[in-house]
Amino acid sequence: MGYKKEYYIKALADVAKHRLTADETAKNNLLSVYLAHPDIKELDEKMNALGLLAVKSAVKLSGADEIINLKSEYEKIDENKQELLTKYNISASTLKPNYCCKNCSDTGYINGELCDCVKRIAKEYYYNDLCEKMPLEKSNFETFDISLYPDDARVNMQEIFNFSKEYADTFNTTSKNLLFLGRTGLGKTHLSLSIANIAIDKGFGVIYGSSQNFFNQIQDEAFGRKQGDTLNALLECDLLILDDFGTEFMSTYISSAIYNIINSRILRSIPTIISTNLSLGEINSQYGERIMSRILGNYVIKQFTGKDIRQIQMLKNNT
Ligand SMILES: Nc1ncnc2c1ncn2[C@@H]1O[C@H](COP(=O)(O)OP(=O)(O)OP(=O)(O)O)[C@@H](O)[C@H]1O
Ligand SMILES: [Mg+2]
Repeated sequence: MGYKKEYYIKALADVAKHRLTADETAKNNLLSVYLAHPDIKELDEKMNALGLLAVKSAVKLSGADEIINLKSEYEKIDENKQELLTKYNISASTLKPNYCCKNCSDTGYINGELCDCVKRIAKEYYYNDLCEKMPLEKSNFETFDISLYPDDARVNMQEIFNFSKEYADTFNTTSKNLLFLGRTGLGKTHLSLSIANIAIDKGFGVIYGSSQNFFNQIQDEAFGRKQGDTLNALLECDLLILDDFGTEFMSTYISSAIYNIINSRILRSIPTIISTNLSLGEINSQYGERIMSRILGNYVIKQFTGKDIRQIQMLKNNT
């Protein structure tokens, strides 16, 4: 999938920054080693000089024997250098730049083509722009407080918490689809974003946001009112989180886009998490049997219970 140029420019800038940092670090490490062990510096200087001589011999037609001699001399000095490094307990790897991408050495290109690492970073920027400003940092498993649920809901909510934590810890692109059902303020978005946090940390491409905004955006793009390819991004991302499902302003186009996304992702076995205030019966009447039967057959359903935590927290803060 192609993204806007600006995402690639940002990604290439990131890669160039990584390269600069890795080069600088290696250079500084080398200078520290030279300062502490001038004998290593001396050997490096000798090897550099031999390298220059080899280049000069290479341009002479008669230089073949000379090059062989220079090469064996170089190898001997290098052996001495390795012995010194071992003696001083210096790892040779600290003297080489530690590039993030071993394929392109953080140059961003391989044989004139963009490296996959640049495409991956560009994709992250794109997904980031698509995701709404939801409280991602605030919503994690550590801030989930089970004591906020009333006694009769705690066992169920503890089970949903454990399930979600396990789901996140073992998340991969073949993980199951989840449907979080429940009234307002019970932690559906909180747990969805907790899963998103871990999946993002693992390097998966996650898109999350309110269903209403996504489908409005998709419709606007389809009818040329906005530019973008949100539909494709929602079809192909590793994990799609459709929050507040059921709040979309229904149109024939949106209804078929919803079906397309849910069905295509099931067929490709890539996971989706849907959270909604609707009951199963309401989903059935609002979206019809085609969507309902796909959800029933392919989603793990979790029914959230308890009392509105927004209100509980508000009361706590006011006392
Ligand atoms: N178990 C919990 N521990 C700590 N904070 C929680 C917990 N559950 C919910 N919250 C917080 O309460 C607020 C409401 O929760 P959340 O947005 O997850 O509810 P929801 O089920 O998605 O509601 P809605 O259906 O209205 O979207 C959020 O600020 C969230 O971080
Ligand atoms: Mg919510």
